[in-house]
Amino acid sequence: MSVLQSHVATGGEEFRRNRDAYAGLIAQLHRRRSEYEGMGQRARDRHESLGKLLPRDRVDVLLDPGSPFLELGELAGIDMYDSVPPGAGIITGIGQVGGVSCMIIANDAPVKGGTYYTMTAKKHVRAQKIAWQHRLPNITLVDSGGANLPEQPGIFPDVGQYGSVFNQLVRQSAEGIPQISVVHGACTAGGTYVPALCDITIIVREQGYLHLGGPELTFAATGEDVDRETLGGAQMHSSISGVTDYLAENDRHALAMVRDVVGDTCRRAPLARAVRTPAEPRYDPGEIHGLIPEDPRLPADIREILARLVDDSYFDEFKLRYGESLICGFAYIGGFKVGILANQGVIFSDSALKAVHFIDLCCKQDIPLLFMADNSGFMVGREAEHGGISKDGAKMITAMASANVPKYNIIIGKSYGAGYMAMCSRPFEPHFAFGWPNGRAALMGPEQAAITLAMVQRQKRARDGEDWPAEAEEAFKEPIRRDFEAFASMYNFAANLWIDGILDPAETRQVMTLLLDLAARVPGQASPFGVLRM
Ligand code: COA
Repeated sequence: MSVLQSHVATGGEEFRRNRDAYAGLIAQLHRRRSEYEGMGQRARDRHESLGKLLPRDRVDVLLDPGSPFLELGELAGIDMYDSVPPGAGIITGIGQVGGVSCMIIANDAPVKGGTYYTMTAKKHVRAQKIAWQHRLPNITLVDSGGANLPEQPGIFPDVGQYGSVFNQLVRQSAEGIPQISVVHGACTAGGTYVPALCDITIIVREQGYLHLGGPELTFAATGEDVDRETLGGAQMHSSISGVTDYLAENDRHALAMVRDVVGDTCRRAPLARAVRTPAEPRYDPGEIHGLIPEDPRLPADIREILARLVDDSYFDEFKLRYGESLICGFAYIGGFKVGILANQGVIFSDSALKAVHFIDLCCKQDIPLLFMADNSGFMVGREAEHGGISKDGAKMITAMASANVPKYNIIIGKSYGAGYMAMCSRPFEPHFAFGWPNGRAALMGPEQAAITLAMVQRQKRARDGEDWPAEAEEAFKEPIRRDFEAFASMYNFAANLWIDGILDPAETRQVMTLLLDLAARVPGQASPFGVLRM
């Protein structure tokens, strides 16, 4: 039971060097986040010239003034599609409407007509899933041409794609989670089902329209010549078809109506977990930048990081002297109790067993789990194998996967191979997964991958009686190193939505406080464990 004491010389040369190097990573993060502003200005000007609010302004107008908006998937699709800015044409995030935390999902119409790329659909589905898990009302601001047609394989046939948007919407509605939408602009073909499936739908006069097939398609299919407003305009749907429920005069009016609906139908859920008075850490969270070694092969001192992350730098460390490569302990973030598992090197059998015991304790006491990943995997070698590293690693994975308490994964350094799995990364569906800008995740490190693949090649050539000169082997290895390095980047993970975003270490505490607050409003559930191999 103790308060962590920092022993780092924050005025020292090493700290300064690390901090300066990290400043470059933070500058890159801000640059990439702001690329959105620099792209598609012409389309935005055209959108505004039609008297419409820009999608981000719609979100601003909807939210309680001055309240935080936690944007999720901000870097989705980055570098994936031609002239599509970060975000993949949809804005998702958690914000307050009338004091109620809501999931806001807004089509970014100036980005390719708000049409759905693979990552757009995946991001929409992910946002709904978060809302579902936390029982947050969904507010969908629709302005989209529906499917981006050439993206068919990534949005149409499978689970987790566009169809899952409809499925999740219905199932959440069935569970009493409010589903509210505004038709701000286009809403065509499959896209019509989002507003049509919602509990409450508002449409904007002479701006929003909604139809299964537009005028051109209608003419081609039936020979009927009809204009868009008559076919699917706001006036028609509000008075003839009954597809929509409220008619708004403009975007601002529609958003004010949403605030009224939320005020009338949604209540902020009470806390189901105790909270104590929050306290700032005794050391500045901004100093974390100087704690992360410039050389990515070197680990950071995790206790120094925790001293700058948790309330009052208080950390009740569990089994301090056992399984020392995995630090476990109880702490508070923003007043919310959390069980932290953080790597301090490779995972050995004893550290895996310690994790099992710790996770079990947290499950029994309904304490959320925060996994801070910085490991190059599980220990290998004869001693480790004879000691049963595979079954101990399996026990850790069983405990982590079985835990039904809220789980969070942050890749704060390396996260390789089975170590990526065991620290509750995306495949284990943590409530949220994030990375720090220095984070790296892959099957293995670039050098190990190059060595492994070269070894396979060498054996194959030896079998075939072929010579393989050293220069040829090096030429073979170089692109593998480069590919693995590029793959491991957190930007690649954020682009593919394998994480929900990249966090500045200094903002991590604030984000975690918000997330723990959301989770604390959902009643806990039991965690029956899978079979533990002994
Ligand atoms: N698939 C692929 N690309 C599409 C698209 C679609 N369904 N709809 C629009 N786009 C692209 C356009 O080609 C254009 O690309 P560019 O910027 O490279 O030139 C961009 O999105 C913007 O389209 P544009 O028509 O110029 O913008 P707009 O604001 O005037 O209209 C829409 C936007 C979405 C209302 C209009 O493009 C539209 O009706 N599209 C067809 C929608 C449809 O029928 N979808 C079927 C879904 S199953």
